[in-house]
This record gives sequence, structure tokens and C-alpha cells, in this order.
Amino acid sequence: MDNIKNKVVAFDQVKILGKDIKRDGVTLANPPGAIWIGATDDDKIVGVVCIVINSKTKTARYKSDFVLKDYRKRGIYRKLFQLRESFVRMKGVKTATAFCSFMSINCYVKYGFVPQRRKVNTDNVFVKKVYV
Ligand SMILES: CC(C)(COP(=O)(O)OP(=O)(O)OC[C@H]1O[C@@H](n2cnc3c(N)ncnc32)[C@H](O)[C@@H]1OP(=O)(O)O)[C@@H](O)C(=O)NCCC(=O)NCCS
Repeated sequence: MDNIKNKVVAFDQVKILGKDIKRDGVTLANPPGAIWIGATDDDKIVGVVCIVINSKTKTARYKSDFVLKDYRKRGIYRKLFQLRESFVRMKGVKTATAFCSFMSINCYVKYGFVPQRRKVNTDNVFVKKVYV
């Protein structure tokens, strides 16, 4: 656990999580401009969050939040989340949105996101944050 480090990683490094992510219903796509922040245990990727920033509109989309089962409930996601918050603030992002799951919604709400609506036929909730 002490070896867990957070850093920006390449999508190629994240792809290895593909099967586990899919099993939990999270999509793993790499749209243009996506920034991946990974949690690593030595060299192994154990968690990830993604940011897609539109620099013209100063908006961000958060996606693909995921931590491997064996590493959950140890605060790894919270640290990734905090890092992502610092990153988007540094980039001057004004609003951020995400579709979150019942497992991540508490974290989103704690960090100032407001639930907007549920995605049709899923448990995913669309959340939005306005940065001040
Ligand atoms: C959601 C997920 C990323 C959390 O990772 P984690 O490293 O275990 O989370 P942390 O230990 O940092 O906990 C952060 C907060 O998340 C929330 N949380 C974590 N696991 C949860 C669960 N099973 N149910 C509800 N809330 C949960 C809690 O609010 C927690 O804060 P708290 O400890 O103050 O209560 C992980 O469970 C996961 O990958 N789930 C499957 C995929 C998924 O649902 N991703 C979110 C898509 S937006």
C-alpha cells in the first residue's frame, strides 16, 4: 500500500485493466485529448481516472473511474479524485460533468458535484460541478 503512487500515465498502460473495467460496467475509450491519471503499485496499474478537457469552453468530462477489486476501500480513489480536482483547477476548468455509479456518487457529491438526472435504463447518475 505504501508503494501506491499517482501519476499521469499513457492509455497503453491503462488498457491492461480493460477486462476488469468492463466487468464493472465502466467504458474504456481514449478520446482525443484524454488525460489518464493512474495509481500504480510498483509498476502495476491498480486504479485510474480520466479527464477530457475542452480548452475552448473550459469544460471537462470525467470518465473511466476505476480501482481494481483487491485494492478497493483503501482511499486510492479518493487520492486520484483529489489529484484530478487539482489538475482541472490548474487548467482553469469552469465546469465538469460525469456519469457516476452508486459506488462513486458519494465521492462526487463530497467534492461538490450536484446530481442532475439518471441515465436512461441504467443506475448511472449525471453529475455537474461549477468551479469558483
Ligand atoms: C468506485 C471505486 C473507484 C472506489 O474506489 P476505492 O479506491 O475503493 O474508493 P476509496 O477507498 O478511495 O473511497 C472513496 C469514497 O468512495 C465511496 N465508495 C467507495 N466504495 C464504495 C462502495 N462500494 N459503495 C458506495 N460508496 C463507495 C465512499 O464515499 C468513499 O468515501 P469514504 O471512505 O469516506 O466513505 C471502486 O469501487 C470501483 O472501481 N468500482 C467499480 C467501477 C465504478 O463504479 N466506477 C465509478 C464509475 S464513475
